[in-house]
This record gives sequence, structure tokens and C-alpha cells, in this order.
Amino acid sequence: MKLTAKTLYGLESVLAAELPELGAAETEILNRAVTFTGSLETMYRVNYCSRTALSVLMPVGEFMISSAGDLYREALKIGWHEFMNEDDTFSVVPVVKSKLFRHSGYPGLVLKDAIADYFRHRSGRRPSVDPLDPVMIINLHISSSRVTVSLDSTGEPLFKRGYRAFQGPAPLNEILAAGIIRLSGWNGSAPLLDPMCGSGTIPIEAGLIACKIPPGKFRKKYAFAGWKNYDPELFDRIKREAEGKIVKPDTVIMAGDVSAKAIAWCRINAGNAGLSGLVKTEVADFTNSASGFSNGFIFINPPYGKRIAARDSENIYGMIGTVLKNKYYGNRAWVLAPDRASLGKIGLRAEKKLKLFNGAIECILGAYDLYEGSGKKRDR
Ligand SMILES: C[S@@+](CC[C@H](N)C(=O)[O-])C[C@H]1O[C@@H](n2cnc3c(N)ncnc32)[C@H](O)[C@@H]1O
Repeated sequence: MKLTAKTLYGLESVLAAELPELGAAETEILNRAVTFTGSLETMYRVNYCSRTALSVLMPVGEFMISSAGDLYREALKIGWHEFMNEDDTFSVVPVVKSKLFRHSGYPGLVLKDAIADYFRHRSGRRPSVDPLDPVMIINLHISSSRVTVSLDSTGEPLFKRGYRAFQGPAPLNEILAAGIIRLSGWNGSAPLLDPMCGSGTIPIEAGLIACKIPPGKFRKKYAFAGWKNYDPELFDRIKREAEGKIVKPDTVIMAGDVSAKAIAWCRINAGNAGLSGLVKTEVADFTNSASGFSNGFIFINPPYGKRIAARDSENIYGMIGTVLKNKYYGNRAWVLAPDRASLGKIGLRAEKKLKLFNGAIECILGAYDLYEGSGKKRDR
């Protein structure tokens, strides 16, 4: 069957590289999504094991329309009884970019009516709408006159891993953290440092990668478990197989932060992810770093410019550049900044720059090769 995995902007190619490892075939990159083919088993495994997918959708109807009436008639042709019963609750999530509708809420109502009428015609009873905790989440995507109706097999997005008890004011999305680590090529063999770790998203996602812990291990719920065709034995087997691959790596993962509160949160979150022994935490000001970390990967998500005064932001990015140049040569660094101007204040030449999104916030990732004796900082 055809499936669609959604992701964050900028991580499409990372997701497309990850999906075949989980059994997906015929991957095709779209904007913030990758389509692929696979079985029910693949759908369960992507939900449980993907580090960079937000959700997995199963298209159940694709058609062209020129009016709301067409949408209603085409939606009635979908075999809804194959996926749900009259007793199941449902909700419709519309994503509409079409001149046919002025408000995206309206086609959502049309689809709800079609589903209710489909069941009423069959049995005289209809499923109820529950916008808060429905059994079936139905995604309605309309682009111009092209409609895709899909079932959301995930429910709460997959960045809700289940290990996070605490977060600071600007936590990194778990999927973005995992995506950046995969983009960097870190595979667990080199040492890794996050000197501004906050609640620990980067070191924790790195720990999960290094230990091959499936990111779904701590999640309690997937929407597909409420579907009529749910196969609990198959899902149990997938979980057992994935958890059977967990290893104890010979890896160094270091997490520092100037805030003792952030380090306390990071420790609790890492403990919840089963990584207390692996993620070494320390209250430390990056400004006062000692030399000695080498041949490693450094990931920095500094305080966001929008939340701190412009002068502080000038100081912090300048400080990061100076400390990286003087204390961390011989390493590779990745810095996630809110914009190019902030990244520019680092004063080192970025070898690569990538536009990404942290949830809804646009940001830019700079990659730096820190050579010994690279001399004067170079502006760009
Ligand atoms: C945007 S937050 C990091 C969020 C983190 N990635 C997460 O997922 O929770 C930036 C962090 O940098 C820390 N920080 C700011 N200045 C620092 C410094 N000079 N040395 C170390 N940490 C610093 C802050 O305490 C804050 O926790």
C-alpha cells in the first residue's frame, strides 16, 4: 500500500534515507513529506522506529473535485466500513490550499457529513465526531482541485517521544534534534558534546541513536491501535525485534549548560530515556571551556535571538565563535541559529548552511570544520 510520512521542513532527504532501513520502498520526496510503499508491518515499524517522521498517513481516497458537492460524492465512495465502525469516534483535520473553498473548515464539515451519511445508509447508525480524543483521525488534504483523504495512523505527532518530563523555554523539537544528528553523519563512534543542552534533547536523541533504542519505546499510544484492522501480535513482534537490537555503545556523550536547573531537567529526561549512564552532564559556562575535546562532534542550540536582547545575542554568538576557534579545534561543530545574521556573528566560515524549522520557527544550521591554527576568525 501507499503511505505518506510527514516531517519537518529541511528533513525530507534525511527521512527518505531512513525509511528504506525500516522496510519502505519506492520513496518519493515531497514538501515536508515522503511517500513510500509498504505493508501494515512497515507502517507499524515506521511509527515505532523512525527518528525523523512526524506522522504516518495512509491514503484511502484520491480524486479531483470542482465543487463541495464533488467532495461529498467522492467521499461517499470510500469503503469507510473497512477501517472503522459506527461506534468509533472520528475527527477530520483539513489542510486546504484551494480557491474552491474560502474557509478550510467547510470542506472538513462536508467530509464529516459524507462519513456520517455513509454509515447511516448502511446501518441506520452513524459514528460520532470527537475533536479531542477520536479513535479515527482523518486527514483531508486539498491542493487546488486535487483531494487526498488519509487516515492518520500516528495520532499525537512522533516528536512526543514520551521521555520528556521537563522542558525549558525554548526546547528543540525531538525530530529536529535527531534529524540534525543524522545530517551531521554522527553514528555513535565519535565523542559528542552539547555545551548548551537545556533540557537535553540533542544528547538524549544522540543516546537513543547510539544505543539503537527505538524512539517509540516510551510512547503509550498510536492511533493505529484503534483501527478495525489492528494486529497486536504483529505490533508486539515489531517492538520485540526493535528492542532486541539495543546495544551498550562505547560512546562519549557530554551535555553541559550554565543553568543548574537545565542540567537537572536534562538528567531527569535522560533517566526517563534509560540513558543516565551514557549522557554525562555538567553545570558549566561554555565561555570558560577548557581545551581537550577532540575528534568529536559539537552541537549548539544557543538561546534564541527573539527571546534575548539583540546585544546579548551579539555577545553570545561572538563568544561561541571565539571559544570554538580557540578551544575546540580538531572538531566539527553544528550551530542552530534563528537567522543568517545571528550565524554571521559567530565569525567563522560555515562550510554548509541549511534552512530548517524548529516546529513553526524558521532557523538555520551552520556546519563548521574547526582546524588547528585556523588563525583569525573569518567573517561571512
Ligand atoms: C535554546 S536553549 C537550548 C535548548 C535545548 N536544545 C533543549 O532542547 O532544551 C539554550 C541553552 O543555552 C544555555 N546557555 C546560555 N548561555 C550559556 C553559556 N554561556 N554556557 C552554557 N550554556 C549556556 C541556556 O541556559 C539554555 O539552557
